[in-house]
This record gives sequence, C-alpha cells and structure tokens, in this order.
Amino acid sequence: MTKIKAAITAVGGYVPETKLTNADLEKMVETNDEWIRTRTGIEERRILKEPGKATSDLGTPAVQELLRKRNIDAKEIDCIICATVTPDMMFPATANIIGDNIGATNAFGFDLNAACSGFLFALTTGASFIESGRYKKVVVVGADKMSGIVDYTDRATCILFGDAAGAVLLEPSTDEDGIMDSLLKSDGIGKNYLYMRAGGSLKPASVETVLAKEHFIHQDGQPVFKFAVKGMADVSAELLERNNLTGDDIAWLVPHQANLRIIDATANRMGLSKDKVMINIQRYGNTTAATIPLCLWDWEKQLHKGDNIVLAAFGGGFTWGATWIKWAYNS
Ligand code: UT7
Repeated sequence: MTKIKAAITAVGGYVPETKLTNADLEKMVETNDEWIRTRTGIEERRILKEPGKATSDLGTPAVQELLRKRNIDAKEIDCIICATVTPDMMFPATANIIGDNIGATNAFGFDLNAACSGFLFALTTGASFIESGRYKKVVVVGADKMSGIVDYTDRATCILFGDAAGAVLLEPSTDEDGIMDSLLKSDGIGKNYLYMRAGGSLKPASVETVLAKEHFIHQDGQPVFKFAVKGMADVSAELLERNNLTGDDIAWLVPHQANLRIIDATANRMGLSKDKVMINIQRYGNTTAATIPLCLWDWEKQLHKGDNIVLAAFGGGFTWGATWIKWAYNS
C-alpha cells in the first residue's frame, strides 16, 4: 500500500493594523533605529492593541481566510492545532476558541507549545494525523500575541516581538507532492536562557511575581543567539544531507524570523543565495509561532507546484527543526 502523504492545500494569515515602528520604540526605551536594524533587521512590528483581544482573534481570521480560499466549510475540518506561547488563557486551548469562532463543530483541537518552533512541530503533528489515514482536513495555526508578554520597559526584548497569525490546511496529497521529511529537536537547557518565570505551577501568579515583572519574556540574547545560529543551520544541513539534496535543489528557505543574522547564517550553511530566502522580519519582527506560515502567506503567489521548500526554526525550550516540503499547488 502506498503511504499517504500530507500536503498544504491553502494558506491564510492575519496581522493587526497597528504598527509599532523603531521610531516609536525610541520614544519608549533607550534604543535607536540604527541599532535595531543592524542587530536584528527589524523596522516595524504589528500590535494587537484593542483591549479584550487575544491570540484567538489573530488565529480566527487567518483560518477563515484559508477556508475561503479552499472553498470549504468549517464543519469539514477534523482537527485544529494551534501552536502558541500566548494562549488566550492557560486553558481551555486557544485552538478550541478558534474552532468555536469559525463554527468547526466537528473538529477536535489542542494547543502545542514549542515556542518559535511551534509551527514546525504542529505541522509535523498534523501531517502525521493525515498520514495515518484517519483524518482528511487538519488546520495548523501559528499564532502569538507577543505584546501580551513583552515588557515595554526592557529594551533587550521589546524591540524584537510582534503579533500575528498564520495558518495552513493539510489534506491527503493526490500525488508525490507534500510534506516529505521533518527533523525536530529539543533541549531543556533552554529554560535557563529564554523563559517566562511565573504564571506556571513552579511560581503561580502572586502580587510578588507581578511586582517582580516575572510574567514577561526573559531572554539572555547572546547565548540564545549562539544556540540558534548553530541549531538552525545544523538541522537544515542535516535534513538536506539525509535526503540527498543540495542548495541547488531548493527553491525557497522559509526561516523563523528572529534575527536577520541567524537567517543569513542558515542560508550560507545551506549554500543558498539570498533571493531564495523568505525574509519579512523587517515588517513584522519576531511573531514566534506565526513567522513561518506568515512567510508562506506573503510568498504564496510565487510558489509553484513541485518547488522544494525547507522550513527551519529555532526557539525557546530550546526547540529547533527543519521540514522539507514539495509545494503542492499553484495559486
Ligand atoms: O525567536 C526565539 C529565539 N530567539 C532568538 O533567536 C534571539 C537570539 N538573540 C538575538 O537575536 C540577539 O542576541 C539580540 C538581537 C537579542 C541582541 O543582539 P546582540 O548583538 O546579542 O546584543 P547584546 O545583547 O550582546 O547587547 C549588545 C549591546 C549591549 O550594550 P553593552 O553592554 O555592549 O554596552 C546592550 O546593552 O547593545 C545593548 N543593547 C541595546 N542598545 C540599543 C541591548 N538592547 C539594545 C537596544 N538598543 N534595544
């Protein structure tokens, strides 16, 4: 029996209207546009500013867009996986809230937490559901309202992050195209360098944790940078090698957008020229689980059936990985 393959058959995305530019940040913390551009590549980010709005309000329109594009009803969806580190609430899962918003009454759903690698981990999980033959339509959402956990007095982190969502639909492939291979990795040592200290079972929320600003992201930038450069480049090279591919075979690299310097290092290691690398960090910053589907959303019209695409990520945990896709449609 031939193995069932999962293919991405539609892409949706959503970014909020409000822009937070480097010039805006110069008024908020001791920083400057030149430092931010040269150290990160970021020029502006989008912020979900309206009170009462949450990660599900980013994910919902992204999923609605892909349903419209694929011309299917929400009731046809079997499963929704939402990759996020900023769920609307600790529970229930944001995937369930998105499902309720869109009327996906036949779907089960859950959240998956693998920080900036969340979309890749969720994509691989969703693909396995399709490959099992049990499910026909799986929605994978990467959504994060990072502004909800950023300390806008901490210049080391507040310049980095933005809010956004991207989503893909996975269906059984009708031919040889689809998700070909994935290499995913984790190392719990990351808990020392990139974390939110309080709000979990280790340190439940209290007046003290709020006063100590322990409900915000903390990142030791330099060690994370070193791990990220090595992790993302190594895993991408290993994925190519084990599939007998070289940079020449690859149409596009879709890297997690944390820092332009990390992206460049990964592309160099894979032997890819810059015109094969999707980069939109300048417009959106680091949107955590949303960066990769947001790139696919931005570049969808330039993708051709059969294109070899490598998705690569590195994030908190640490988590990292790479996925090889043969793009399944022309839009
Ligand atoms: O997506 C999840 C995974 N995360 C990542 O991959 C992020 C990895 N890390 C990075 O991208 C970089 O480490 C950062 C962009 C976060 C920081 O860049 P860096 O080149 O590692 O800077 P640094 O932290 O070593 O700081 C260099 C200097 C310091 O000043 P001194 O000690 O040299 O006087 C900082 O205080 O830059 C200073 N600095 C700033 N200056 C202006 C730190 N933040 C800022 C700022 N504006 N916003």
